[in-house]
Amino acid sequence: MEKPAVPIDDYRMPRHIAIVMDGNGRWAKKRFLPRTAGHRAGVAAVRKVIECCLKRRIEALTLFAFSSENWRRPPQEVSLLMELFLTTLERETEKLNENGVRLRVIGDRAAFAPVLQEKISAAERLTSENSQLNLTIAANYGGRWDILQAARVLAERVAQGDLCPEDISTGVFESELALADLPEPDLFIRTGGEQRISNFLLWQLAYTELYFSPALWPDFDDQALELALNDYASRQRRFGYTSEQVEDLVSENACPKTGESR
Ligand code: IPE
Ligand code: IPE
Ligand code: MG
Repeated sequence: MEKPAVPIDDYRMPRHIAIVMDGNGRWAKKRFLPRTAGHRAGVAAVRKVIECCLKRRIEALTLFAFSSENWRRPPQEVSLLMELFLTTLERETEKLNENGVRLRVIGDRAAFAPVLQEKISAAERLTSENSQLNLTIAANYGGRWDILQAARVLAERVAQGDLCPEDISTGVFESELALADLPEPDLFIRTGGEQRISNFLLWQLAYTELYFSPALWPDFDDQALELALNDYASRQRRFGYTSEQVEDLVSENACPKTGESR
């Protein structure tokens, strides 16, 4: 493996990046192309950003591909997005596996066609032992859905007598959420210039650094990612502490998030 391209020390490098890949439609419109052409170009950008994250040894990358609200789009656009999801899985899974990528999909997959559900499960199984990059695709995902499904699981456990309501701590709650086994996202990137979360990871973004890129998703490349990483590296994450406390923690080589030594 080559060295990370950005000479940023570990502490200033995000372990987990979460991206709202927005701007495909506008990218196409600018070129007088149908929106679907923008989504096709968006797939190439996904490939590129995965390569960039592998090169930089980022631990986890979570990509918002289809929100629980995106079913509201014209039916032809929804069909094209589903088809692209399927063909991309068919074409790319082998290569992802060769590159050591562990692929997982979060969201309510019951709404997908059975063939798509099968491909998702097969890709997850094939790549489950990989550890170079945890790639998560959020599809038919919504942050509110995520919190609700966790609440339902816990309510069920309480109803069964397995769990006392007073034992529902932050940790217990989090263990039922998507991405429970990954560090929380350090850096959130939204492309396309809009400054909103659009029901992405609501719980998990509580202390994430937010970065908004003007680049439309199909144009998002290594350079655009580097801008986001440099911006992230220039920030001080305080997690409720004062700036001075964080400086002390950092000089003691402790983690400001947990106060633990690294
Ligand atoms: C993001 O691009 C892709 C999906 C939501 C699936 P958009 O399709 O939202 O692009 P804009 O925002 O219309 O430009
Ligand atoms: C968010 O983009 C969802 C994805 C990128 C998958 P949208 O384009 O759907 O968000 P809104 O509707 O502008 O908030
Ligand atoms: Mg959009």
